Amino acid sequence: MQFEVIAKCHTTRARVSRMKLSHGVTMLPTFMPVATQAAIKGLTPQQVESLGVTLMLNNTYHMNLRPGIKVLDDAGGAHRFQGWTRNLLTDSGGFQLVSLSKFTKITEEGALFASPFTGEPTMLTPEESISIQHSIGADIIMQLDDVVSSLTTGPRVGEAMERSVRWLDRCIDYHERSGKKDRHNLFAIVQGGLDHDLRDICLDEMIKRKDRVAGYAIGGLSGGEEKDTFWRIMKQCADKLPEDRPRYSMGIGFAEDLLVCVALGVDMADCVFPTRTARFGVALTFSGPLNLKLAKHAKDLAPIDTQCPCPTCSDGVSRALLHHIITQETAGAHAVTQHNITFQARLMGQARDAIINGTFPDYLRSFFVAYFGDVG
Ligand code: GUN
Ligand code: ZN
Repeated sequence: MQFEVIAKCHTTRARVSRMKLSHGVTMLPTFMPVATQAAIKGLTPQQVESLGVTLMLNNTYHMNLRPGIKVLDDAGGAHRFQGWTRNLLTDSGGFQLVSLSKFTKITEEGALFASPFTGEPTMLTPEESISIQHSIGADIIMQLDDVVSSLTTGPRVGEAMERSVRWLDRCIDYHERSGKKDRHNLFAIVQGGLDHDLRDICLDEMIKRKDRVAGYAIGGLSGGEEKDTFWRIMKQCADKLPEDRPRYSMGIGFAEDLLVCVALGVDMADCVFPTRTARFGVALTFSGPLNLKLAKHAKDLAPIDTQCPCPTCSDGVSRALLHHIITQETAGAHAVTQHNITFQARLMGQARDAIINGTFPDYLRSFFVAYFGDVG
């Protein structure tokens, strides 16, 4: 990986960087759409690429179940399997400890999942997670972490943080011994819940391993905690992480959160929100989210956003048509998904331009006024 900071905002910690991976350059800050099962729901990878996306996310846990490692290995990796020519990041499976918690059990050896097909228990160890991510062929791979919900309190939060550090060491050892270290870039994931002291210990431990990791993620947030707490922990982590490594906030996707994270020095983010909300009929715009299911759109022949370059808006697909088909026809979900991915890409592109032009604080102010209305 080549990572180079090319511009910095003077009043916030926002920065623009150039990240060069095996499948080309991705300019940061960037938002990564999530293709859990080697597909963004409703779109082909070719469509995603034509929207200007240069980095997307696949999920280790899901890809291991289906299509499975055998199919991926035979295809020569997930890039060829799905016909994706740009950069790919895989999440390790750690997050499924929370999202599928009814079906998981955590041990020091690894995470025990009950197969959704047979109920049979299968163990995902840190070594196995890395091995699967190597088979997928991702450009950026994530450590297996022990993730707890951000609402969890008590000793379990510290235990999960400490285990995440131990698992990072196992991931690093396996990764370095595999001989594939130069092809896949391993990121550590900072845990520690909403506890300042636990986060600080985790940051210290993981920063000690700086020469053996390519970047850092901030995990365990955006799980229903207060915004104020979320920002405080995000700032603490982004402030302390090394300048010369990319910083990735996991599971962040609301426009306002993305811009705050960028202002705090975050470079990457992912979330299912923009694609999931599209399927529920919500189009993202610079004047705030637009619920296309509301009756007020039934006769509105305007596109979602006249300024938007996405295929849906530039073809003039009307709000009225989208209102009519959104929950009935898959074409409606495709159209709004394309729009929402384009919205996220425009938002981050505008942020990068503003940082480069020295106008990022003004950009933030005008974004928030337009998005939430002029409350002043
Ligand atoms: N996705 C959202 N949050 C997290 C996290 O804390 N860990 C991992 N592995 N994935 C995530
Ligand atoms: Zn659009």
